Amino acid sequence: MRPVRTSDDVMEIGHGYQRAMILFTALKIGLFRGLAEGPCGAPLLARRIGADPGKLAVLLDALSSLGLVGKRAGRYRNAGIARDLLLPGPRSMESILLHHLDGWGEWGRLPSAVRAGREPRIRAEGGYQENFIRGMEENARERAARVARAFPLRARERLLDLGGGAATYAVAWAEGCPDAEITVFDTPGTLRITRKILREKGAEGRVRLVEGDFLKDPLGGPYDFVWISQILHAYAVPDCVRLLRRARASLAPGGRVGVQEFLLDDGKTSPPGAAFFSVHMVAVTDGGRAYTAGEIAGMMRKAGYRKVVAEPKDARGVGIVHAFGGPS
Ligand SMILES: C[S@@+](CC[C@H](N)C(=O)[O-])C[C@H]1O[C@@H](n2cnc3c(N)ncnc32)[C@H](O)[C@@H]1O
Repeated sequence: MRPVRTSDDVMEIGHGYQRAMILFTALKIGLFRGLAEGPCGAPLLARRIGADPGKLAVLLDALSSLGLVGKRAGRYRNAGIARDLLLPGPRSMESILLHHLDGWGEWGRLPSAVRAGREPRIRAEGGYQENFIRGMEENARERAARVARAFPLRARERLLDLGGGAATYAVAWAEGCPDAEITVFDTPGTLRITRKILREKGAEGRVRLVEGDFLKDPLGGPYDFVWISQILHAYAVPDCVRLLRRARASLAPGGRVGVQEFLLDDGKTSPPGAAFFSVHMVAVTDGGRAYTAGEIAGMMRKAGYRKVVAEPKDARGVGIVHAFGGPS
């Protein structure tokens, strides 16, 4: 990402929310799905999706200037990038984008969150949890098989995917090692959606689902490997250490833990995506933020883990810190 140098650059940041909302609105009102029924003018599309034709035309023209929609002789069609990424399909980003829209209200209150700590959370409209969990699946689907290969399980090893969300990683491990025993622990609200996703993928029965609050309820076990992916950033350091201790207590002799996070570099100002994500956590959680690999390693040592190793981050800044924690 290019650093800000000119007044135009500053204005581009100031206007950023407008572009985001043009895209979010198009997704929210089903504009791309409506156009997928066939190229058409604004009045016909307005009838298809239930919108005001004049206002819809303004939105369509802006989407056209972004390159997401094509316009010829007053008729609009989805651009290739929109067909690939903004409609249902194997590369769809619909849910993760709608999840970002769900955070809009809380971002609007970021100044008061930063000044004075948090006020009660704004509940986003219905569908929040579904967008969130399906969005996590979209984020993880390309990475999960790579991670499962990098940390192979032996036959009959027991893995706990703590806060496993859509079970994307759990299913990847189940596919890589059909004899392993895979458990996903998550909240009842999340697992309701996980069950739907597993049914859609024909993967019911591949993983065991356990409902609970991982900071309070028994985690079961013993496990040979506890996987904690994209969890710690939602919690302040004392709760992270508490969770890591609870995970360690559930390990079998020789057991390991892997923590995956969107990691900041040591100075915490890069990569930019992780620095912005950290602000997102300030906006939407009570004490969370992004951490550096060194901070996560420190929390692991405090929780009693040994032989802590940080693997290099990928291009998006996602990295894994792993360690041994079971009784030796
Ligand atoms: C950001 S998602 C990560 C999902 C998955 N691990 C992944 O990497 O794709 C965080 C998950 O943690 C779960 N979670 C958060 N707090 C929890 C708690 N106290 N007890 C159990 N699960 C929790 C959420 O329901 C959600 O599924």
